[in-house]
Amino acid sequence: MKKKVFLTRKLHDFAIKDLKKHYQVEVHTGKIPISRRKLESKMEIIDGLICFPYDQIDNIMLNKAKGLKVISTFSVGFDHIDIESAKKNKIRVGYTPEILTDATADLAFSLMIDIMRRVSEGDRIIRGGNWKKIFGAYDYVGMDLQKKTLGIFGLGRIGSTFAKRAKSFDMKIIYNNRKPLPKSKEKKLGVKFVSFEQLLKQSDVISIHVPHTPQTHQLFNKKIFEKMKKSAFLINTARGKIINENDLVDSLKKKKIGGAALDVFEFEPIGKSHPFTKISNITLTPHIGSSTEETRAKMAEITVKNLHLGIRGKKPRFSVGF
Ligand code: DGY
Repeated sequence: MKKKVFLTRKLHDFAIKDLKKHYQVEVHTGKIPISRRKLESKMEIIDGLICFPYDQIDNIMLNKAKGLKVISTFSVGFDHIDIESAKKNKIRVGYTPEILTDATADLAFSLMIDIMRRVSEGDRIIRGGNWKKIFGAYDYVGMDLQKKTLGIFGLGRIGSTFAKRAKSFDMKIIYNNRKPLPKSKEKKLGVKFVSFEQLLKQSDVISIHVPHTPQTHQLFNKKIFEKMKKSAFLINTARGKIINENDLVDSLKKKKIGGAALDVFEFEPIGKSHPFTKISNITLTPHIGSSTEETRAKMAEITVKNLHLGIRGKKPRFSVGF
């Protein structure tokens, strides 16, 4: 009998076709994210799972997944999966690093320009019929990128690629990591290591590029916003849970910081009643860091490859843990 594979969301046709050659395939087509109850019931009967960052795969679910050999997530981030529990249950986990580096750095860069030059806000002004209300030469002005200090929090693959983009816009780049890069790499990228405190103090823009972990959970909160420049912008294309959203709303309303551009949120997807949608100096995108035709197709390819290997008891091409 063919092994059972379940997908929590639709994947490219070529990927589904490939999967169907080998397995009995079922794709969730209802509301996104899939309900916990439905996912839990599937976990009990499947051999392979393809999931997405919206799906929370916790210990309770994994303990029920008696036949599950592999979870292949369509993402570089894997904080939605309890990795320790997966290991304990001998379930391999595959993910999709490297291939989405450029696409995500590009999005972070476009969000930075957008919020600094108030591009989306301008779009909203026109659609709202409010262009006629912009009279003075000082009304509705943005900020130059040139000569501004960009603080990159997490200079890994995506952070470094983002730095290269920013360099060509004549920005001064500082960064904070768990430890500094070798001097030769710093020189090549044109970046300078500073403490987290200095990053907050000196940056005109801060862009977050660290994973979501217990250490980074809601790290950007009220206390941190107090330490940033009043004019500073915050960009987040990493994970929503790194920011305390209530504190961000409050800080933006009280003008503690200049603005924010966010691609990721604590609970996705967010709707139009979310408090962020009521604030003008904030740009929102629906978690599209990796969302280009080329990158998403490559991710689908890797996701399927990881699943094929894991379901046969082999280590996925890109594997978290074993
Ligand atoms: C990922 O793959 O984890 C990214 O967040 C996608 O944009």
